[in-house]
This record gives sequence, structure tokens and C-alpha cells, in this order.
Amino acid sequence: MKGIVLAGGLGTRLYPLTYVTNKHLLPVYDCPMIFYPIDTLVKAGVTNILIVTSGPHVGHFLGLLKNGKELGVKHLEYVYQEKPDGGIADALSLAEDFADNDSVVVILGDNTTDADISESVKNFTGGALIFLKEVEDASRFGVVELSNDKTGKIIRIIEKPKNPPSNLAVTGLYIYDNSVFSHIERLKPSDRGELEITDINNIYLKLNKLKWVKLNGFWRDAGTFDTLFESSQYWYDKNRPK
Ligand code: DAU
Repeated sequence: MKGIVLAGGLGTRLYPLTYVTNKHLLPVYDCPMIFYPIDTLVKAGVTNILIVTSGPHVGHFLGLLKNGKELGVKHLEYVYQEKPDGGIADALSLAEDFADNDSVVVILGDNTTDADISESVKNFTGGALIFLKEVEDASRFGVVELSNDKTGKIIRIIEKPKNPPSNLAVTGLYIYDNSVFSHIERLKPSDRGELEITDINNIYLKLNKLKWVKLNGFWRDAGTFDTLFESSQYWYDKNRPK
């Protein structure tokens, strides 16, 4: 299993903080944001990792992460996304060579969680696995509509719905088999001009190959002022020397 951290994008929601640096290098309590997703992978035993990034500050990633050893990464690679807002699936497509026919666990560079995903990684047998979390502001996320019966089947996933069908958000953690790259090749850009990861998840759903689990513990996408602050507060309460 290979690990992929997606850290491209422009971070416009955090202007002016991201005028002169990349969102994923901003501090979340005592660490740069990107340390958290890397740590989630390393704790799950995934130590062969690719960082996809973009924009004018990419050199800073190398200066910060170096060869990854200080974070427990055994092998670290970097790749550059030419269109920084091409979309999450566009960023993921750049990982095909790195994946080398293996499955991939993908985490968005602004996601911070203390959930342990090692069992999900270990037990993954193919298709796609997504991690869901109850949220209050569902219209900010990809949201699942679940069937009313007891099967708990996903009927569809909607990206940033105006009227969310549930409060279950699709978090920025995904496990895919290697066919994800051929699915991305067939994607068309959405109305906002991005290759959407939600479209990929809906393709797996149609193929009856999409599984889901709930993510336990704390989870935030730290890409807004409020969630950046909440994330720092959480890790401060959890990690500060008592
Ligand atoms: O955090 C979970 C949510 O992340 C999901 O519920 C949504 O389905 C998913 O679309 C995504 O929504 P966001 O609006 O939060 O995505 P955002 O554009 O903020 O991008 C999240 C991360 O993905 C960002 O920190 C870096 C990476 N990314 C994003 C884009 C658009 C890239 O690497 N390249 C890109 O082109």
C-alpha cells in the first residue's frame, strides 16, 4: 500500500494567510499542517509516501520535510501539479507512476485527525473505501445519502449540496485499488472546472465497489479560519505539556 498526501490547491479560503505561503505549511498548534496527515499514514504503517503539491512555495516542502526520516517516513517522493486548482482527482492522477500498480491510501493535506486507520489499511481488499464523519456544516463537504433500510447502503454522494441529505460528510481519507487511475482518465471537469474526487467515489459506487466506515475520534479539514483555529485548539488541549 502506497500513501499519497495531496497538498496542491491555492488555499484561497485562507487569504491573506496563504498569499506568501502554502496552506499546508501553516501552523496547527505546534506543527505545520502537513505533519498531521503524514503522521496518520505513518501510524497506519504506510511509510512509502508521495506528496503532490503546487504553487510558488513548493520548495519549502523539501526544506521542511527533507527525506521524511524525522517523521518516520521510509521513502518520500514529491510531484508537482501544474494546474494548482485542477481538482483533487487531477492531483491524484499524478501519483500513477509512484503507485506502480499498488493500492493507495490518499489523504488531503489539510485534514487532521487522531483516528487510527491501520485496520482499514490492513484489511483493504480492493475497490474503494471512504471514511465518513458526522458534521454540523454538511453543505461544505461531499455528503452521502444513505438508504432508509437497515443495509446502510450509500445511494449517492453529492459534492457540497445546498440541502444536504444527511449530516455524514466524506472525509479527505480514501483507499483505492489501482483502477482509480483509469477511472480518473475518463473524468470530465465539473462546473467549477475541477476533476472531482466525489465523481470517482460515485464511479466506484455504481460498480458496487464502494465501502464505507465511520471515522472515529477528532477530524477537521483545517482549510477555513474557523477549522484551522479549532484544529489548533484540539491539538493544544491534547498535546500540550501538562
Ligand atoms: O475535507 C473533505 C472534503 O475535501 C470532502 O468532503 C470533499 O468531498 C472534497 O471535495 C474536499 O472538499 P474541499 O472543498 O475541502 O477541497 P479543497 O479544494 O479545499 O482541497 C482539499 C485539499 O486537496 C487541499 O488541501 C489540497 C488538495 N488539492 C485540492 C485541489 C483543488 C490538491 O492537491 N489539488 C487541487 O487541485
